[in-house]
Amino acid sequence: MRRALIAGNWKMNLGLEEGMVLVQSLLNQSSAEDFANCDVLVCPQMPLIAPLADIAGNIKIGAQDCGATDSGAFTGDTSPQLLASLGCDYVIVGHSERRAGRFEDDGLIQAKAGAAQKAGLTAIVCVGESEMERELGNAETIVASQLAGSIPEGSNAENLVVAYEPVWAIGTGKTASEADVQEMHASIRDQLEDLLGDASKIRILYGGSVKADNAKALLALKDVDGALVGGASLKAESFMPIIKATK
Ligand code: PGA
Repeated sequence: MRRALIAGNWKMNLGLEEGMVLVQSLLNQSSAEDFANCDVLVCPQMPLIAPLADIAGNIKIGAQDCGATDSGAFTGDTSPQLLASLGCDYVIVGHSERRAGRFEDDGLIQAKAGAAQKAGLTAIVCVGESEMERELGNAETIVASQLAGSIPEGSNAENLVVAYEPVWAIGTGKTASEADVQEMHASIRDQLEDLLGDASKIRILYGGSVKADNAKALLALKDVDGALVGGASLKAESFMPIIKATK
């Protein structure tokens, strides 16, 4: 049995006060039962990691990116060790907005994930095909090659989560069909098995326009162990029902 993970990716949204209010609202609106089978995570912008970790209670705090080494002359990067020391537990690496928009390749993503794991963080490694790649029938091949290139050696269920996010479903209101999602997740699990040995406990999240009204069906799929949520994670009214859909 894999524990569900519902992760909110706030992207470059929400300031300090808004972030504090949202975390407080999530805490007020949830019960111990909500956290019994489910990890809840929010990933704010970097400067909010420490203040939110201080008030987050049962909610975990994650970063949206990190540097590829512990320290050094890397202007603008954030050390995964520093993140861990501030109360951060997870870090998203390889989001498609960084793969495409910031030209990050598999090698860099693997280095970031490895540095995060070394610092004691759980790396959420994102993979996913473009619309064109899916139309050409190449979705599984593309995702397999992203996985092979981005997953650090020695990853396990404690320090790795994989997020499957079809690029064309992110922020668009389109979601992959339940059959396509389950097929891709099963194929990711098979490949993790080949790469790492036992993958039965590794969590694989689905992301891309997850909302209150589609969360229950997606989360019920055999190989879907949670969700990576963008837009719907910015308000308690839209994020809370997704957390509750894990029951
Ligand atoms: P979305 O974003 O839920 O707004 O589609 C998901 C993501 O980018 O992780």
